[in-house]
Amino acid sequence: MQDQAQERRLVTVLFADFAGFTQLADQMDPEELQVLVSGIFEDLAEEAVAYDGTIEKFIGDAIFVVFGAPVAHEDDPQRALRTALAMQRVFAEHAARLKKERGIELGLRIGVHTGVVVAGSVRSVAEYGVMGDTVNVASRIQAAAGPGEIYVSSTSFRLTNREFSFREVGPIELKGKEKPILVYALTGERTDVRPVIDVSAPLVGRWMELSRLDLAYQSSRLGHTEVVLIAGEPGIGKSRLLSEFTGLATASEEGANSAEAPRVLRWTFSRVNNRAYAGFIEPLMVELRIDVTSADAQTQLEERLAELDFMNPKLVSPILAQFAHLPGAPEPASDSEEWKRTMFIAVYDLIVALARTRPLLYILEDLHYADAASLDLLWFLASRTSRVPLLFLLAQRIGPGTPDPRPSRTNFTQLVLEPLSDEEAARIVEATFDWLPDELRDRIVARAGGNPFFIEESLRSLVESGAVQKDAIGEWTLRDRPSVLEVPATLLATADEVIE
Ligand SMILES: Nc1ncnc2c1ncn2[C@@H]1O[C@H](COP(=O)(O)OP(=O)(O)OP(=O)(O)O)[C@@H](O)[C@H]1O
Ligand SMILES: [Mg+2]
Repeated sequence: MQDQAQERRLVTVLFADFAGFTQLADQMDPEELQVLVSGIFEDLAEEAVAYDGTIEKFIGDAIFVVFGAPVAHEDDPQRALRTALAMQRVFAEHAARLKKERGIELGLRIGVHTGVVVAGSVRSVAEYGVMGDTVNVASRIQAAAGPGEIYVSSTSFRLTNREFSFREVGPIELKGKEKPILVYALTGERTDVRPVIDVSAPLVGRWMELSRLDLAYQSSRLGHTEVVLIAGEPGIGKSRLLSEFTGLATASEEGANSAEAPRVLRWTFSRVNNRAYAGFIEPLMVELRIDVTSADAQTQLEERLAELDFMNPKLVSPILAQFAHLPGAPEPASDSEEWKRTMFIAVYDLIVALARTRPLLYILEDLHYADAASLDLLWFLASRTSRVPLLFLLAQRIGPGTPDPRPSRTNFTQLVLEPLSDEEAARIVEATFDWLPDELRDRIVARAGGNPFFIEESLRSLVESGAVQKDAIGEWTLRDRPSVLEVPATLLATADEVIE
């Protein structure tokens, strides 16, 4: 149905609205109000422009800004959040003044949402709003926020949670939306993502582990479903190993041939985003390029299944639509074992269909945070023989209280990442600051206990404490010999993180 000329774009929409506006309107003469409001708007708009957002509209007492159209940046969601924070700061100044001068309480609510919008030959971005419901969702999220708050949809959250901190709000019902959507309150930009130094040592050691992964991969390519669980303490290098391996697998000789290059689906479970089956719904919908907020998501799904040569896409797509909670899909009639099995088989068929076209690497990280439903489905998929190249790569922290993964099966390998040797650890230090005195290098190594994350943190703390500084020509030098190596609070917090 879609016109060929139509264009799909990912945009982040910021919607900001005054709270307390009616009270203001009651107390002021219209002309004065006009001047006041447009003054505030101008200040807000200035922040948006500074981050290259496009001011779309002033609607009464609201403003909406689009990031990602007509000009797109790689970090549009981040820009939207920085704008939102800046707007709240600016607004707070106005509000404080109004309160003092007139005793009026005024607040700004902001909602942010990222989504795909479809547009034809658009000249003004405003036309996007008519066609996608991204703008509507942003405005509804905004309405749920309290004065002074910035609410962010789970889609925007996922794209930005490395750089920003959030408080979980939970699912909120949106008028006109069948499904509640998960919302987070933005609390600020993270200070622990410190750009001071870029510690990016080349991979040190881990050759044995890489070859074990490759062995499993080669076996999966012969049609055996393989499962490898990488376990280890926080910061020991689980994610890094997985990234290095996928890099090798995609760049290898076989991989260079695009039909053979593996398809990589990757999901990291998190402590806050625990919706049932999260580890499968999200990566699969992304891989199938389905816009899960769009009204025709079900049609898209059916089309993709047909492309994957499903014999009966019409039969399977409603099941998967329910599984993924696509708009318009009914809630499952029952929670029965029978329904669960139907659903699991549909997901299995989908994964097999994907793997049939190209080897499939299915990566699930931070399994210790996984929801029970995802685990249930994972072990179901892992225990079926598929005859297609399918490799599950799992990473999990071990520590007190971590659940045991699973009784081992023949296709199940567990790799426990041991600490790096002192000699390997020293190489990470040298890759970053090769001029550090040996004695200091050794002290860092001794403290880190073979944990690469601890090494990186020690190096960062050298910079933060001022012991290491850039000199006039931009070279790092040691200012004074630190008598103690500080262990930063963030590091302690990570190390002590209780595993639920
Ligand atoms: N073998 C290695 N050589 C060089 N750097 C490494 C190595 N292993 C890990 N690192 C670096 O150490 C840091 C921590 O590693 P990583 O994030 O992979 O740990 P993790 O085990 O996944 O931790 P978490 O349990 O917190 O997820 C990263 O910056 C990573 O690049
Ligand atoms: Mg990790």
